[in-house]
Amino acid sequence: MKGVLLSGGTGSRLRPITHTGPKQLVPVANKPVLEYAIEDLKEAGVTEIGVVLGHKGREEIQELLGDGSKYGVDITYIVQGNPLGLAHAAGCARDFVGDDDFVMYLGDNILKQGISELVESFQQGDYGAGIALQEVDNPTQFGIANVDDDGNVTELIEKPDDPPTNLALIGIYVFSNAVFDVIERLEPSWRGELEITDAIQTLLEDGNAINSHVVRGWWKDTGKPEDILEANRLVLEDKDLAREGRIDPGATVQGRVELHETATIEAGATVRGPVSIAENSVIESGTYVGPYTSIGPNSTLEGVHLENSVVIGDSTISTTGKIVDSLLGRGANVGRADELLPEGRRLVVGENSQLKL
Ligand code: TTP
Repeated sequence: MKGVLLSGGTGSRLRPITHTGPKQLVPVANKPVLEYAIEDLKEAGVTEIGVVLGHKGREEIQELLGDGSKYGVDITYIVQGNPLGLAHAAGCARDFVGDDDFVMYLGDNILKQGISELVESFQQGDYGAGIALQEVDNPTQFGIANVDDDGNVTELIEKPDDPPTNLALIGIYVFSNAVFDVIERLEPSWRGELEITDAIQTLLEDGNAINSHVVRGWWKDTGKPEDILEANRLVLEDKDLAREGRIDPGATVQGRVELHETATIEAGATVRGPVSIAENSVIESGTYVGPYTSIGPNSTLEGVHLENSVVIGDSTISTTGKIVDSLLGRGANVGRADELLPEGRRLVVGENSQLKL
């Protein structure tokens, strides 16, 4: 069993963060989303991984993952280029996969439970594909599967008006080698992409059994800013957080706080976990860092009240105001305007930024 990890795409819903880098490298609890997928694949015994790259951030992804040895896996890079669809991305991996079966993992997805059960379930029968499903509240917005009592898929419907179930396809699939011939025959959909649901539907119509596995525990697609915050919240809730850095006398630290050995919480600051603070970051006097916040490396917080937010790194935040539910890109600085005339907020904001003032 090989792994195909999709790291291309446009990432348009995560602009402006994705103007400068791929969304799969956005940190969740101070770890790039892509690393969670590599760990899940490794845990499921999948150590030969093909990483599919688009145009954006190719070098950054290769720099981070290298040959995979630091994760105990073996990584091969496959260039897709233009994002012509999930099935197209899978098709690009044909030479890499060879005669094997493979797990396809969307590189911006993150799930609590890992993928071992999905892989084992697929391996227990003679299946054309295996899909991971999760119950959702809004099935009209997802690809939905209908399954029989044995968990075999009987039907797949994209964003149905009248959903037969609330079982949505999530971003992890297992495929037999038969999928490659199916992908060659696919026609682009109305949005111009080769759709993975069409590939699975064709496998089904060709007489292949399609296995399904309902994933326990949370699952998150980190495609939008609010999803990053939610994934950050979920991971911080579960993760073991170690306080290794300096906490000065007179600082207040409550709950679970991950503090890198080179990070500091100064006297007069309050940090209320779960929180993660990365290397070389400093929480100065008068600052409050509230639950479900991750502060990336090389950042300084001076007097701000920050909660339920992700600061990617290399930032200075020196406003005395309150910042909540926010995602700050690398190098973003938020300062004070209250001493300047004329009074008012001063913004230097990149394309596609979102501000709620
Ligand atoms: P999506 O989130 O569906 O697409 P996107 O990355 O283009 O994002 P947006 O809609 O915001 O513009 O992609 C899911 C995952 O699959 C993501 O990790 C990117 C990856 N992907 C590819 O590698 N190649 C592709 O052709 C597509 C469409 C996605």
